[in-house]
Amino acid sequence: MSFPYQIKTKEQYIAAWEKSVADPEGFWADVASSFLWRKRWDNVLQWNFTEPNVKWFSGGKLNITENCLDRHLGSLGSKPALIWEPNDPEEHHRLITYSDLHHKVVQFANVLKNNGVKKGDRVCIYMGMVPELAIAVLATARIGAIHSVIFGGFSAQSIADRLQDAQANFVITCDGAYRGNKEIPLKSVIDDALVQCRFVTKVIVLTRTHTPVSMIKGRDVWWEDEIKKVETMGNPDCPAEEMDAEDPLFILYTSGSTGKPKGVVHTCGGYMVYTTYSFVNVFQYNPGDIHFCTADIGWITGHSYILYGPLSAGATSLIFEGVPTWPDAGRFWDIVDKYKVNILYTAPTAIRSLMGYGLGPVKDHDLSSLKVLGSVGEPINEEAWHWYDENIGKGRCPIVDTWWQTENGGILISNLAGVTPAKPSYATLPLPGVQPVLVDEQGNEITGKDVSGNLCIKFPWPSILRTTYGDHERCRTNYFATYPGLYFTGDGCYRDADGNYRITGRVDDVLNVSGHRIGTAEVENAINMHTGVVESAVVGYPHDIKGQGIYAYIVYDSTHQEEQNLTRQDIAQTVTRIIGAIARPDKIQFVNSLPKTRSGKIMRRILRKIAEGETDSIGDTSTLLDPSVVEEIKNGKI
Ligand code: WTA
Repeated sequence: MSFPYQIKTKEQYIAAWEKSVADPEGFWADVASSFLWRKRWDNVLQWNFTEPNVKWFSGGKLNITENCLDRHLGSLGSKPALIWEPNDPEEHHRLITYSDLHHKVVQFANVLKNNGVKKGDRVCIYMGMVPELAIAVLATARIGAIHSVIFGGFSAQSIADRLQDAQANFVITCDGAYRGNKEIPLKSVIDDALVQCRFVTKVIVLTRTHTPVSMIKGRDVWWEDEIKKVETMGNPDCPAEEMDAEDPLFILYTSGSTGKPKGVVHTCGGYMVYTTYSFVNVFQYNPGDIHFCTADIGWITGHSYILYGPLSAGATSLIFEGVPTWPDAGRFWDIVDKYKVNILYTAPTAIRSLMGYGLGPVKDHDLSSLKVLGSVGEPINEEAWHWYDENIGKGRCPIVDTWWQTENGGILISNLAGVTPAKPSYATLPLPGVQPVLVDEQGNEITGKDVSGNLCIKFPWPSILRTTYGDHERCRTNYFATYPGLYFTGDGCYRDADGNYRITGRVDDVLNVSGHRIGTAEVENAINMHTGVVESAVVGYPHDIKGQGIYAYIVYDSTHQEEQNLTRQDIAQTVTRIIGAIARPDKIQFVNSLPKTRSGKIMRRILRKIAEGETDSIGDTSTLLDPSVVEEIKNGKI
């Protein structure tokens, strides 16, 4: 494949960005022309940010899986589309060529059809990182159904909430999943979730761990049996469903400031164009490169840069089932060495955790195949950046610090590897098509250099979210109402003298723990489910490895008072049950009351300062109903 839109020099970057602003429609029409469309679009772009209503390439007809699979069969059919590295390094890896993947996707698409899945139906996918997860996602897209992948670490309750919100009648899962030395009983978690979700009519279960599972007659079927049925039908073809560019492709739930996760909706055409465009340009992908993105497919990074972006570009994408520290902390480097990985895309939290093991696990591996390193999910601190640069890239691999969000679909601000300059801890410059602005609290644009503000984007790019599933008003109020006419990211940002952007972190009540987004309200709701908890307030605090840790202040009913440490563990367990282990508080402090204003609002600013250990800069407490609670909380700090 060649990419006529690939930017090779800094001058070309500047020219592309300028064209994308002066003539966005012409710019994106050119990019979109190198994809496979059944019918060309009628309009490149129609938009307003008030409703909001954004349509890219409307009237255009396509299927994203034809772009990711069918169009490569001629030239790349025998080339690996996916490399799968199992959790256990002793188990055999798998190479899946483009023609194998096409065959398997078609086969499983027929399984879905045989089980009654139709265009527009929502299919929830809750699996470990096995190739069949990719197959399930692509097969769903092939028949025009809408996938909603749920990360394997979420609890039964979280799954039930998402299934209900999406009204998903179909679930695809595994008996279990391997992660490091753990075995996670996925099907059993699904069974718990489905107690509340009687509307789920079919569950397709892949065998992975041979964990005993209960199979409910009429509802649950084995993946392998269903495949056999398709084989006995003679493996019929499954032509891709013709989709409108603006038909939904998937829903992905993400946390916001409220207690309830939002179902971010992405559509087929714009998402395909932007993920591919950004993949090729940010990582400077060259045909033949092996790309290893360490994210889970359950997050947006996995959707866009393990699956759709790389596959549409005809790349070889590596899927790793395990964790970076098992069987030892050299696992990533082992994989890089074994498959001669060229592009490695990971998260600062992984880098920081591996730094802690020193250079021992790095040194016996040949990392000379690496050409580009990437970072995503949270700000990368300078120390981690330099460690990554010196010890992994050996000073010769550009590092791309890619800033973006679930709602963005693809990378919005990043240097382009080796083309535009990197600057440690800066995402640097916007991609072509992206127009960032900084605003003050009143929404006035802050122009000039060396300034900070809230980061907004003032013009749509092709993979901007279209809505939040089932509740468009929520999409409007969350992203488009704070600053009318702008998409508000929720992030604070600094722009330096050269126009480089540095993301400084969330300015709303969303935490970023190990690169995972978690709403404080969600954690509070879960804590409050524990008997004995009267009320709680959750804030973030700086954590050496996770970036942010979760600090919970809890008012506990004294009649329930038991041994404090046991109660702490019980509460943490409750959060694991309700949300999942990723939301488990790191620190729990019991308090007699929370600092509240006279109108009853919790002053989180104060709690944040205490959790951060900045007790000297708490500021004005005179508006508090009872300022003395601050002293008490300070004294009890963990
Ligand atoms: C944060 C992940 C600094 C940011 C793709 C954003 C980052 C949130 C970076 C989105 C980065 C992501 N530098 N911060 N390079 N990348 N973030 O939806 O706060 O899981 O709003 O998407 O992660 O997280 P999400």
